[in-house]
Amino acid sequence: MKTIIEPFKIKSVEPIRFTTPQQRQEILIRAGYNLFNVHADDVLIDLLTDSGTSALSAKQWSGIMEGDEAYAGSKSFYRFESVARDLTGFEYIIPTHQGRAAEKILFSVMGGEGKVIPNNTHFDTTRANVEMSGAEALDLPIAEGAIPSVEAHFKGNMDLDALEAIFKEHGPNVPLCMLTVTNNSNGGQPVSMENIRKTSELCKKYGVPLFLDACRFAENAYFIKMRERGYSSKPVRAIAREMFSYADGCTMSGKKDALVNIGGFLALNDSDLAMKARTILVVTEGFPTYGGLAGRDLECMAQGLEEVLDESYLKYRIRSVAYVGDHLTDLGVPIFKPPGGHAIYIDAREALPHIPPHEFPGHALACALYLHGGIRSCEIGSVMFGKTDPKTGQFKPARLELVRLAIPRRVYTQSHMDYVVECVGEVFEKRDALRGMAIEYDPGVLRHFTARFRPL
Ligand code: F0G
Repeated sequence: MKTIIEPFKIKSVEPIRFTTPQQRQEILIRAGYNLFNVHADDVLIDLLTDSGTSALSAKQWSGIMEGDEAYAGSKSFYRFESVARDLTGFEYIIPTHQGRAAEKILFSVMGGEGKVIPNNTHFDTTRANVEMSGAEALDLPIAEGAIPSVEAHFKGNMDLDALEAIFKEHGPNVPLCMLTVTNNSNGGQPVSMENIRKTSELCKKYGVPLFLDACRFAENAYFIKMRERGYSSKPVRAIAREMFSYADGCTMSGKKDALVNIGGFLALNDSDLAMKARTILVVTEGFPTYGGLAGRDLECMAQGLEEVLDESYLKYRIRSVAYVGDHLTDLGVPIFKPPGGHAIYIDAREALPHIPPHEFPGHALACALYLHGGIRSCEIGSVMFGKTDPKTGQFKPARLELVRLAIPRRVYTQSHMDYVVECVGEVFEKRDALRGMAIEYDPGVLRHFTARFRPL
């Protein structure tokens, strides 16, 4: 059979609320044209993020009922520890309430003034945690990864020559190297096994530990199975194990590929580091056998880590994201190619050439999608990363003007996605009528969350 179906049936449903364009216009005005200010109830299809938005399985719900809430030595912790250890091969499994808490602990222990931490591309919380420790965060993506129109299999890869140059230049001031799989800040593109292995070899040569930012490890492993020579008949679990085997540890946001609404962990092999990490954990998160989570959350995450490696799930997951990308491409909508694992990124600079970066084409498009069809997306462009020099008033745009349609796991059906495609297509057809936006209130830091705008 050619048709790929959702590999589940739906047991529990949540109604979504329909609004009219007139109502959405009023909602947008009240929200200062910032989609983060819109109540979720006023959104028809919410593609703001794939993080913490997964639908749980019946087994996860039953695990929630079975969660052992003992303060110390909870049975649920030991189940979680055993699943995470078996998956990653790492000895020390340290639960945290989400990914950034694992990052905070890791960089508190290993970062600090004068240190330099390379990554294929830091996610924004990872960068913020590196910088909060006093260290410098360096992004070293391969050059072809930055060009949206280039079709290549592993555009998330690390630039190995650039990495070696950093090791040579900074020597002992590089305390660790990170590798983000998949590369969320670069179109959700995967990293090849070859690139993971070579990054690991380079790290070993210079005595630098390698950590994976493993949020979307299962999606990455599936891309390796589909695209990399020698992996097509290997089980995804074995591919994931091999990915982890090249690293010394990982940070993980369970809100992505552990299919949970909250949870994460730090995993590593170095006992001394683990001891230091647990000391911080006890102060900031909780006792080592719950680390900022309830026993039921650990039970749920253990179950999610098992389910995410189901190959019929991954086939459906990767194909259903590509489905949106392929249909948008058929309509002529420019997207970051090829489709990534968890999201489609519309290239707003290409789609709206009449709106200059300082008038935020991505943000204008995101607002238009909400107005037209009640779809919430997220600008990843000059609202998020653009900067205005306070002295000269000169505007420095972001590298790319993207709109991310992040697809929650197991939540929407194909007809929801057909609706999304239709809505984007209709807005794209009338793109010449779209106008840019101006910022009315700029909070300075992380402005995309709280800034207010007006249409020009
Ligand atoms: N690393 C990557 C690559 C991420 O995408 C995220 C979160 C984190 C770390 C932090 O994890 O949210 O559990 O603290 N990304 C979400 C997103 C928020 O929308 O892409 P967290």
